[in-house]
Formats: sequence, structure tokens, C-alpha cells
Amino acid sequence: MLGVCLLACSALTGCDPFSDVRAGLNPSDRERFDRGLRAATPCWSCHDPTGDALKIGPPLRGLFGQTAGFVKGFPYSSEMRESPVEWDENTLDRFLANPQWLIPQNRMIFAPMTDARTRADLVFFMGVIYR
Ligand code: HEC
Repeated sequence: MLGVCLLACSALTGCDPFSDVRAGLNPSDRERFDRGLRAATPCWSCHDPTGDALKIGPPLRGLFGQTAGFVKGFPYSSEMRESPVEWDENTLDRFLANPQWLIPQNRMIFAPMTDARTRADLVFFMGVIYR
């Protein structure tokens, strides 16, 4: 089954939404990017990776440089909507380390990512795709 999927993927363009960005990275950044991509897998059950869909969470496209609660039409908690946090590498890292520390009472139900290196890879990956 996996073999069939991989075959179908390699035959179709656009199957990997990140192939273009990945191609522009040097080998060590590419490895880091792929580690971050793997670390981001659980995010996609609630966040649309590349589109504008409102899922359980808001789409994250264009995240960096925005103030928390920036997606129009998404039903944020008032804590997230009114938070002055501006998203950059540092705040995203702190948010993922414990979503409830940075923005108390926000509604993102996600366990703290305790491993600093995994967080750094994920933040690097998002920095590449969302800048
Ligand atoms: C169980 C669903 C769920 C998962 C899994 C999840 N999120 Fe969220 N996320 C949310 C919700 C819901 C919000 C909005 C929270 C609020 O309004 O209080 C949110 C908000 C955010 C925001 C703030 C966006 C903004 O508009 O300002 C960021 C950044 C974010 N999530 C990143 C992530 C990352 C990175 C991951 C994976 C490591 C992740 N989320 C996993 C549900 C989720």
C-alpha cells in the first residue's frame, strides 16, 4: 500500500507541497527542514498546512510577523484574540514549549513540546514555509 502511494506521489507533481522550498535549501538545512516537517505532523490535524481552511485551529500561513489571533473569521478564544504576542521564532518556540504559559487560557489543546531541539527544528521548518 505504501509502495503504491509513493509511486503515485512520484508520478504526480504537487504531491509534496514543500518540494520547491526544500530544493532551495542546502543539505544540512534540508535535513533540519525534514525533521521539522516530521515534528509538525500532529499540527495538521487542526491546522491547514498551506491553505486557508479554518479547521479546529486557524490556518498558519503568513504566521511570522503577525499578532496572535490574526486570521479573520476564525472563532478564537478572547485570550488568543486579545493577546499582544507577535509571532516570531522566539514566541513560537515559547508557545510550543507550553501553549498555556505564553497565552494563558487559550483554547489550543496541545501537550507541551518539551524537547528543545525538536521545537527548534519545527520552528525552523515553519520559518521557511511561513516567512
Ligand atoms: C487539537 C488541535 C490543535 C493542534 C493539534 C494544534 N493546534 Fe495550534 N491552535 C489550535 C486552536 C484551536 C488554536 C486557537 C486557540 C484559541 O483561539 O485560543 C490554535 C492556535 C495556534 C497558533 C496561533 C495562531 C494565530 O492565529 O495567532 C499557533 C501559532 C499554533 N496554533 C501553532 C500550532 C503548532 C505549530 C502545532 C503543532 C505543533 C499546533 N498548533 C497544534 C488547535 C490546535
